[in-house]
Amino acid sequence: MSTTTAAAPDRYPVASLSMYDPVHLGIDEYGYSVDTPIVYRQLLMGGEPGSGKSVELNNIVAHGALSTDCSMWLFDGKEVELGMWRDVADVFVGPNITDANKRLRQLQCEMNRRYAELARVNRRKVIATDPVPVILCVIDEVAYYSVTTGTKDQREEFMILLRDVIARGRAAGIIVVAATQRPSADIIPTSLRDLFGYRLAFRCTTDSSSDIILSVGWAKQGYSAKDIAPEDRGIGLLLAEGGTPRRMKSAYLSDSDIYGLVEYARQLRRTGWSA
Ligand SMILES: Nc1ncnc2c1ncn2[C@@H]1O[C@H](COP(=O)(O)OP(=O)(O)OP(=O)(O)O)[C@@H](O)[C@H]1O
Ligand SMILES: [Mg+2]
Repeated sequence: MSTTTAAAPDRYPVASLSMYDPVHLGIDEYGYSVDTPIVYRQLLMGGEPGSGKSVELNNIVAHGALSTDCSMWLFDGKEVELGMWRDVADVFVGPNITDANKRLRQLQCEMNRRYAELARVNRRKVIATDPVPVILCVIDEVAYYSVTTGTKDQREEFMILLRDVIARGRAAGIIVVAATQRPSADIIPTSLRDLFGYRLAFRCTTDSSSDIILSVGWAKQGYSAKDIAPEDRGIGLLLAEGGTPRRMKSAYLSDSDIYGLVEYARQLRRTGWSA
């Protein structure tokens, strides 16, 4: 353990998490904890403004921050949704498409490097005992980068890079968690949506927006995020690979909870990833 920290020895954080542990997302309607492993998966969240996406993203980022085997790459089109975690992120991209594309190109290179190494040693995927961190790539408001800002070429490049990282990242230990307040087919085409093993639909204004997140047919079967009351912020339908959507309420971290967690995570990381 490194001794560079100024904290008294009895203040060293001793408990940490792993990205291979299940992530606590909230509780379901029966009161059971919704704890989901997200490694080797990608997670898409959608819902109208104010429905609870950023709150849930913060829970996942908190898990990443406390995981000593996680490198966090945060993309925040609003700069303030994930901004509190900036000090413990390896990469933080604000509302800047040039920067976003540069970082996604770097992520693509890292992914290619990992696959080349896996091929060299005849392995299929990165595992917990490998000396490389899981990369948690969180994008709050995909639409900001994919349809709102920059030039057409830049937005197209963003989508091409993101699609590649989502499609090939899993076995290389790269998790993408993306949120959008505009669940429409131009932002989340079916072919992109289907690459996400986990989907979480917070309140949507139409059945078809809900289906764009979960996949076509669920609304007809009675699982529509349009039925979530507007005042029920943080309630969503979680679809995990192959199951049926599960109604849940996300956990909530207040700003002061987050300040405390950031400080803890900073200490944890300063102690050399091995407290
Ligand atoms: N699980 C929850 N428990 C309690 N309050 C919640 C929860 N989820 C969301 N809220 C409340 O709803 C507000 C809006 O949530 P959030 O910022 O996550 O919305 P959003 O979907 O990210 O919106 P936007 O698309 O505008 O960014 C929060 O500030 C909080 O007050
Ligand atoms: Mg938000």
